[in-house]
This record gives sequence, structure tokens and C-alpha cells, in this order.
Amino acid sequence: MKLIIDDAHMDRIKRVYEFYPVDGVTTNPTILAESGRAPYDVLKEIRRFIGDGAQLHVQAVSRDAKGMVEEARRITSELGGNTFVKVPSLPEGFKAMKKLHAEGILITATAVYTPMQAFLAAKCGASYAAPYINRIDNMGYNGIQVAKHIHDIFRNNGLKTEVLAASFKNSQQLLELCEYGVGASTVAPDVIEGLVKNTAITAAVEDFIKDFEGLAGIGKTMANC
Ligand code: E4P
Repeated sequence: MKLIIDDAHMDRIKRVYEFYPVDGVTTNPTILAESGRAPYDVLKEIRRFIGDGAQLHVQAVSRDAKGMVEEARRITSELGGNTFVKVPSLPEGFKAMKKLHAEGILITATAVYTPMQAFLAAKCGASYAAPYINRIDNMGYNGIQVAKHIHDIFRNNGLKTEVLAASFKNSQQLLELCEYGVGASTVAPDVIEGLVKNTAITAAVEDFIKDFEGLAGIGKTMANC
């Protein structure tokens, strides 16, 4: 499962990149608005920082297919290869996806709440379909089950599209999808950091350090004992 950061704040992106094995960055219009910066300024800075090898996902905001296609061309020309254009999974979005796929532009179908949206997006040529786990839960359904269902539909129909699960509220949800083998998940930095936030882990490591220092002296390590 690819692990992607859902954020546009450079300081938080840099912090996660420093410590964790992440595969790229996703943004959405709300996340860009929270950054308070001009969209292409922040997106170009993210691209420079993560490099050409990492994925960057950027959403189109037009209401019609023509506008989405124009946005997608600009997004990919500004931000380069390995940039996925997030297209809402609505009728106009499906129309745009078919056109973009024919042009070779990478697509992430977004705003996915139902398996049928994901299936249609996959048939339109989307590389990823992004079910919103937390928002589906808030509607009274089970977001994790929806994501698993979509994963199964892709596999059972020989579709290459992968699930890019989004909108998480906790690390346990992420672990469950990791165990199921979905293609990717995008999460806020605090959820990634929550994966290893556990007092038992830090206590175990501290005990080892104390035992070693008892043997070799305070501040000693295997490099200088
Ligand atoms: C991903 O495609 C979505 O933009 C995002 O993860 C939504 O997350 P939220 O429900 O926490 O806003």
C-alpha cells in the first residue's frame, strides 16, 4: 500500500518526509485554501521538494468536463509527470476522465462514496479511485467496507485501477486497509504519526538504552563505547 500525505503545508510535509517512507502528496481545494497561498506556488514548491519520482495529486474544480480537461492540461504542464489530476466522480467527471485517459493524463477519481462510482471511473481509465472513509462513515455506512468492496470489484473485473483510500480519522482504519492490500491511502500527517505513537514502544526502547548505559556508561552507544 502506498502511503501518501494529504496536506499542503510545507513544514508538515517536510516533517513527515524526514521520518517516514511516504510516496507522495495529495491535495484538494480545501487543503490548498488552508495553505493560504497561491495554488501553483504551493504546488510547485511541493513538487520541487518531493521530486519527480513521487506522486502529486491535484484536484480540478470545474463543474463541466470541458473545464476539467483544460485544468488537467494546465496542472500536468505546470507540475510534470507523476501528477494525477483528481476528477470528481460525477457525470461530467466521467466524461472528462475518458478524454483525459485518451490524452495520457493520469487520473484519480475523487469524491467516491459508492462502489458503482469507482467502477465507472475505473472503466473510464482512472488510475485511482478515492473513497472517503470518514465521510462515508458519517453518512451511516461503513467506509472501510466500501473501500474493500471497491478493491474486490477492481480485482474481480480485471481492472488495473487501485483504491486510494482517503478521509481517515484514525490509524486503525489505515491499518485495516493496509492488511487488505489496497493500493494506496492518503492521510493527514497526524494520522501517519499516530501509527507509532505508543508509550509501550518508547518505554521498551528507553529500557534498552538504560541497560546499555548501565553497562558502558552514560551517553555511551555502540559507536563510542
Ligand atoms: C481525498 O481525495 C480527499 O480530498 C480528502 O482526503 C478528504 O479528507 P477529509 O474528509 O478529511 O476532508
